[in-house]
Amino acid sequence: MSNPSLLILAGDGIGPEVMEEVKRVIGWFGEKRDLKFDVSEDLVGGAAYDKHGVPLHDDTMAKAQEVDAVLLGAVGGPKYDDLDFSVKPERGLLRLRKEMDLFANLRPAQCFDALADFSSLKKDIVAGLDIMIVRELTSGVYFGEPRGIHIEDNMRVGINTQRYTEAEIERAARAAFDLAMKRNKKVCSMEKANVMESGILWRDVVTEVHADYPDVALSHMYADNGAMQLVRAPKQFDVILTDNLFGDILSDCAAMLTGSLGMLPSASLGLPMANGRPKAMYEPVHGSAPDITGQGKANPIACILSFAMALRYSFDQGAEATRLEKAIEKVLADGARTADLMGPEDGTPISTTEMGDVILAALDASL
Ligand code: NAD
Ligand code: IPM
Ligand code: MN
Repeated sequence: MSNPSLLILAGDGIGPEVMEEVKRVIGWFGEKRDLKFDVSEDLVGGAAYDKHGVPLHDDTMAKAQEVDAVLLGAVGGPKYDDLDFSVKPERGLLRLRKEMDLFANLRPAQCFDALADFSSLKKDIVAGLDIMIVRELTSGVYFGEPRGIHIEDNMRVGINTQRYTEAEIERAARAAFDLAMKRNKKVCSMEKANVMESGILWRDVVTEVHADYPDVALSHMYADNGAMQLVRAPKQFDVILTDNLFGDILSDCAAMLTGSLGMLPSASLGLPMANGRPKAMYEPVHGSAPDITGQGKANPIACILSFAMALRYSFDQGAEATRLEKAIEKVLADGARTADLMGPEDGTPISTTEMGDVILAALDASL
């Protein structure tokens, strides 16, 4: 049988820097655990625009549809800020999500013990935190029509539309309830049913789907209160289910509970393919971090943890995913820190590559 296939789209800014470390980790699993992948690489975002004039070439899109999983670094950067909206780097990422129909975006926020002191919140608020945000990823205001910038009465008007069908809400809700069944059996759904009709429908449909999951405790919260509760008492949550835009914002907020945006991985999952694996793309929650690009400062952990999610959700290698997560926990416990994980007075940080080195050493030690 052939090896499972991975398409790496490292993208822009720190994307290629953190992906280098992921490639070493992939190599380690091939060599030391006989978990071999057929890895191919291609361009996305600004890098694809520079070569092809579009942020995602059709051939790359076709490849992404064929492989067992896509690993993406990050897209975007100031160089591309003035491009026409239709060819901005971010459009490449959104096309991948939409055309692969990756509707369930899993964004776990776990606070490693070694970083509990470093979070911008008090230690007892975040220590032991382990929550999962399920963000609907293929609909809502990111994709709703009508949209655009029009002239009305000699004035520019910017329009985006929040639109959800019940089928779209239902499948995201099922993903959240299924996950909750494997965790602490609690789902909190966040919307703005007090001001948005799409929020009212969201609440209704989630409540209807809940009937199939009697063992899961369901609560509803307005998303603004949810943002406040996330920083007040995040451990009250297990699974948070929310829409595309609220999920984007709430997950960056959750990142800081763990210490750094450089720590948060994600899995974007779609429907099962013919081989039974879900359509899938794995990517860190952070962006291309133009402020630190090319300086060896980027924390590769979010991207490496995204590969751990690939092992778990695409390749049924939960034990190996745990091995990788434990190796990361160990290096953090031993004091390994990239610059984002320390204050200015805390000594000298290690580089992106050095973080990769110690993680590989911890993997070796796990054998
Ligand atoms: P960002 O996530 O790139 O950076 C926000 C802050 O976090 C910066 O100070 C950055 O240095 C820091 N940071 C992020 N990742 C880090 C890491 N791994 N290690 C250490 N520090 C890290 O967000 P931004 O600055 O708002 O956006 C920059 C560009 O990235 C924009 O073009 C944006 O559209 C794009 N973006 C892309 C993605 C993606 O590809 N998935 C996600 C978010 C933003
Ligand atoms: C994310 C990013 C993307 C989003 C952008 C880059 C399109 O912020 O993955 O969180 O808004 O979804
Ligand atoms: Mn985001």
